[in-house]
Amino acid sequence: MARIELRNVSKVWDNVVALEPTNLSVADGEFVAVLGPSGCGKSTTLFILAGIYAPSKGEVLFDDQVVNDVEPRDRNIGIVFQSYALYPHMNIRDNIRFPLKFKKTEKEEAMRLVEESAKLVHIEEFLDRKPSQLSGGQQQRVALARALVKEPQLLLLDEPLSNLDATLRMSMRSEIKTLQQRLKITTILVTHDQLEAITMADRIICMSRGKIEQIGSPKDLYENPSSLFVASFIGAPPINLLEGVASQEKLNLNKGSIILNHAHQGKLTLGIRPENIKITKDIQGIKSRVGLVEPMGRETLYVLETTIGELRALVPESAPQWGQGEDIFCQFEKESCLFFDTETEKLVSNLRLVAIE
Ligand SMILES: Nc1ncnc2c1ncn2[C@@H]1O[C@H](COP(=O)(O)OP(=O)(O)OP(=O)(O)O)[C@@H](O)[C@H]1O
Ligand SMILES: [Mg+2]
Repeated sequence: MARIELRNVSKVWDNVVALEPTNLSVADGEFVAVLGPSGCGKSTTLFILAGIYAPSKGEVLFDDQVVNDVEPRDRNIGIVFQSYALYPHMNIRDNIRFPLKFKKTEKEEAMRLVEESAKLVHIEEFLDRKPSQLSGGQQQRVALARALVKEPQLLLLDEPLSNLDATLRMSMRSEIKTLQQRLKITTILVTHDQLEAITMADRIICMSRGKIEQIGSPKDLYENPSSLFVASFIGAPPINLLEGVASQEKLNLNKGSIILNHAHQGKLTLGIRPENIKITKDIQGIKSRVGLVEPMGRETLYVLETTIGELRALVPESAPQWGQGEDIFCQFEKESCLFFDTETEKLVSNLRLVAIE
């Protein structure tokens, strides 16, 4: 186990900035997810921790020791690559044992460790097979067993579940989480799947364009996103965003307006999540008409044409349902309304919705 720290770490390739100067610390035994869209610098961050990439600037510390000059194999880390990267000509036993070669572990001890980590991920019956004789999910477990065999102080997982089907992905999510809690290894999971990050990690590091946008618990990021980027990246179906112009206590949106608790001047974007919009027949709220109706299992997603713009509302199965073309009113959960400065894209945290006109 280890405490991990990045101090002003950056990575530049020729003139491409893959990672802006970054500070980060991960507590001993913590499970964090690095979440962000393709190309935002997730793998770069992970490879710098692994020692596969040298940072252009800055220091990497494990337990307060600078490890910049420590070779990857001497960092005591386990890594699972997105592609599994198993050796096709070796059987599963030798694949899992491979990292121990550099440690010069005695053969008997190595065999014991291989069996033990194979058991952890339930693949002990496949040890004599070749990777091609296993399913994708089983190969993924082999990659995990290989990462765990050295009893690493840090586990790095780069999109480890991306090639699995939905059902297998769900069961592997909870298996990895359970395993991590049992072994208490500091774990960093790279993913672009918000559900994976939310369900598995204690904290999420949300990245965009080589920069950390926000770090927080899944609840923090969902309820108090610091920017438009985080607000729209977290949550499914995505948050509704409506652009308007504020003058004094009034925010004008399309053909309607809302009243704010404070005077504000300039462009604002209102954010409201589909699950925080209520549909009613009471003549109270925003006059709307039901457009598309999309059944989504336990909920229904309604596209609403309203006086302030198009909105999506998510209604649970147990609530009244509505038909296309029906005239209704929609109401916002006031405390869930977020306001962002449209130019800087940052949250304006002191603004609240008081009333809808
Ligand atoms: N060897 C390299 N040379 C030049 N640019 C690179 C190199 N490796 C990565 N980059 C660039 O650095 C940026 C970050 O890449 P990185 O692999 O960290 O993204 P990522 O967040 O892991 O994306 P993905 O989700 O697609 O895997 C990208 O713009 C990428 O093109
Ligand atoms: Mg990547």
